[in-house]
Amino acid sequence: MANLTRDFFIGLSNNKLLNTNAKKYGFRLGAEKFVAGTNFDSIIGIIKDLNSEGISCTLDNLGEFVTEKSEAIEARDDIIDMLYKIHEQRLDCHVSVKLTQLGLDIGDDFCINNMHAILKVANRFEIFINIDMEKHIHYGKTLEILNELRKEYDNVGTVIQSYLYSAEDDLAALEDVRIRLVKGAYKEDASIAYPSKEDIDRNFMELAKKRLLGNTFTSIATHDHNIIEELKSFVDEHNISRDIFEFQMLYGFRTEMHNELAQAGYHFCTYIPFGSDWFGYFMRRLAERPQNINLVLKDVFYT
Ligand code: FDA
Repeated sequence: MANLTRDFFIGLSNNKLLNTNAKKYGFRLGAEKFVAGTNFDSIIGIIKDLNSEGISCTLDNLGEFVTEKSEAIEARDDIIDMLYKIHEQRLDCHVSVKLTQLGLDIGDDFCINNMHAILKVANRFEIFINIDMEKHIHYGKTLEILNELRKEYDNVGTVIQSYLYSAEDDLAALEDVRIRLVKGAYKEDASIAYPSKEDIDRNFMELAKKRLLGNTFTSIATHDHNIIEELKSFVDEHNISRDIFEFQMLYGFRTEMHNELAQAGYHFCTYIPFGSDWFGYFMRRLAERPQNINLVLKDVFYT
């Protein structure tokens, strides 16, 4: 049943028509619980409040399924505008981007050029750019583009998904690159990804420990308290500096834990999605945690 529910919401997240229509109608179904605002100006207050609690942020101006050059260019320019605002307002933030938002499905060179334009500004302001990892169909290209960009910029990194069989090797190849480790949010075939949650969790733990024993910064991105507790003990046992890692969680999820971890002296970063292209992101969150559906139903029936 859990798998069916997951597949259903992942299916919705990939539906281009629903994604397009959702942009026109604004937040619905309780999406505002997990998507912080419709534009950058509407989330500045949230960022400043989190920063004042010692929490940094990674900002995602939501967008995917881009097939028109004009849309990708608009997304690029919005991200560049955001970099100027982060710099001017001295916000403790970095930026997460998706390559499909920046034209990966249109052409590799076009997408790389858009990333160059973003990284040039981000580099000047010393802002880190994280390339989110999308469906496996984009995986190889994403790693290739990352490697290409890293010839010129060191303020760019990406995400490794522990559900992939290749995660261990891919992580080893990115030993010197700042990485966010996640379990993986998409539906992938058993020929490339572990189907069982047990294996995905075990792999996540092993990969996280390996990274923590190295020297390159790692973002441990999970809401899983069992994993977080075990890694906290691991860090203590091995005298690992808290400066080489951070915990990351999504805006609106387990908010009390964000504050607890920051107050306990761990680096903590909240992933803040915003913008009108909320549907795919929101459906993936429902797929991960069907309990969120209760919030949706409450919104539909009681508001
Ligand atoms: P998981 O869903 O495995 O839950 C484990 C346990 O934690 C649950 O059984 C429950 O006990 C507890 N729990 C989880 N959520 C809870 C909640 N809201 N309230 C109470 N208890 C809860 N994916 C991807 O493919 N590419 C990407 O670029 C990213 N980026 C990204 C950034 C950040 C900051 C995060 C946190 C996640 C991503 N992801 C992602 C998503 C990721 O791959 C994964 O799908 C989700 O984080 C869900 O897995 P978790 O490890 O969080 O917990």
